[in-house]
Amino acid sequence: MEHVTIFDTTLRDGEQSPGASMNTAEKIRLATQLEKLGVDVIEAGFPAASPGDFEAVQAISQKIKYVQVAGLARTSKEDIDKAWGAVKDASNPRIHTFIATSDIHMKHKLQKDREQVIQTAVESVRYAKGFTDNVEFSAEDASRSDRDFLCKIFEAVIDAGAITVNIPDTVGYAIPDEFGELVTYVRAHTPNINKAVISVHCHNDLGLATANTLAGIKAGARQAEVTLNGIGERAGNTSLEEVVMSLHTRRGILNLNTGIVTTEIYPTSRLVSMITGIVVQPNKAVVGANAFAHEAGIHQDGVLKNRMTYEIMEPETIGLASNRIVLGKHSGRHAFRSRLNELGYDLTSDELDRAFLKFKELADKRKELLDEDIEALIAEEILRIPDTYQLLYLNVVSGTATVPTATVRLLSEGTDMQNAGFGVGPIDATYNTIAKMTGTESKLMRFSVTSISGGMDAQGEVTVRLQENGLMALGKGTDPDIITASAKAYINGLNRLAYLKRNPSLKADERNL
Ligand code: KIV
Ligand code: ZN
Repeated sequence: MEHVTIFDTTLRDGEQSPGASMNTAEKIRLATQLEKLGVDVIEAGFPAASPGDFEAVQAISQKIKYVQVAGLARTSKEDIDKAWGAVKDASNPRIHTFIATSDIHMKHKLQKDREQVIQTAVESVRYAKGFTDNVEFSAEDASRSDRDFLCKIFEAVIDAGAITVNIPDTVGYAIPDEFGELVTYVRAHTPNINKAVISVHCHNDLGLATANTLAGIKAGARQAEVTLNGIGERAGNTSLEEVVMSLHTRRGILNLNTGIVTTEIYPTSRLVSMITGIVVQPNKAVVGANAFAHEAGIHQDGVLKNRMTYEIMEPETIGLASNRIVLGKHSGRHAFRSRLNELGYDLTSDELDRAFLKFKELADKRKELLDEDIEALIAEEILRIPDTYQLLYLNVVSGTATVPTATVRLLSEGTDMQNAGFGVGPIDATYNTIAKMTGTESKLMRFSVTSISGGMDAQGEVTVRLQENGLMALGKGTDPDIITASAKAYINGLNRLAYLKRNPSLKADERNL
């Protein structure tokens, strides 16, 4: 079987999703998990975009041991210098440079003619090649570019040293047959194409990203650029799990493989959702909550008799096993630490003490804890910025014949405060009270609640997005009680806003909070 290179751009194009935000610690955590997932290339970011991006790409390059780390750059020396500065410590660095090749982009955005674009692309690839042999060139908006021009620019950049040429469907405009034919055309009309790997990078504006990517692969592309959960600019990018599981499930006809450890797909999808705060739609292929749920009686009956009647993949294959009980209240510190190490966390002994204490508290409330619960606990208790406010006590009264009332005790910069308030529902009452106590002027822009793991005693996970005077912060909270999880998320968001206000130098990179 031939290999398809999986180029993961969750940390770059994925982070361009409206509302996706990751700080450096979270990006490192995700990159570590991507390595475990078995991707071939991690596109860690766009180093010239902001000092925060540069710092994160550099930190990932220093941490990741085996997988290639790519930094994105426009076709300018400044961008390429920054990209190289950020990835040079990686064991296998890649510079990924791009310029638009469609007439509409060249005329209106770049104000360059075709010859100038070819010249700029060639100079940039040559310049990047001075740093590393591993140079990828992307023709932005390739699917709307003149085909012969596309072949001409690919021929020129391959001569200049590009070893991967990428065909993006930047605006998600292509349809599968057409996109497959484009790849065939490029293969047939670029004389030196056998010196480079053809890559495809599709956006999902018409819901065709996975279909287009597979059509490109069938036509000979051997690199797929993808993101977990399909997050990305506008309607998102091709989703990693869909492409990988299509190649895996239909290997009989496609005859292609990837290096992905499929059992890491679900944990990675969870991690991305937890870090970005972007909830996976329940009917999302492969990783959605309903992807393996059978509702209709006839289906349930069939599955009970033989799972293959209605299941084309087994949940275990993507790491979603019903018997994944990890730890419980009798588990000791040693077992807890080994599980954390397996999950990729390397905590100091002080952090481990704090985490273990919280783990025991949670294990007292819930019989069994899954990996997702442990990860949520670490995200909330350990990888967090310093608290300005801490929730000490919450009592909420609500019901069909009661005015919802919340009593809240907070530790606010060392001062113990208590207050009570009302609302239209229990969460509103809690939020009104907390807002009154903290005097926040922030607006609640987004509120979402999901359950972390299945079952009646599942933990609720709440994500909020707060905005105040141009600052934006994400807050997350988990708890078996969703009102408490909501309070924790709100307070976490307020703590992040307070942190941003105390550190104005972080403003340039404010989306990272
Ligand atoms: O969609 C796109 O064209 C891109 C390029 C930078 C590869 O993301
Ligand atoms: Zn893109």
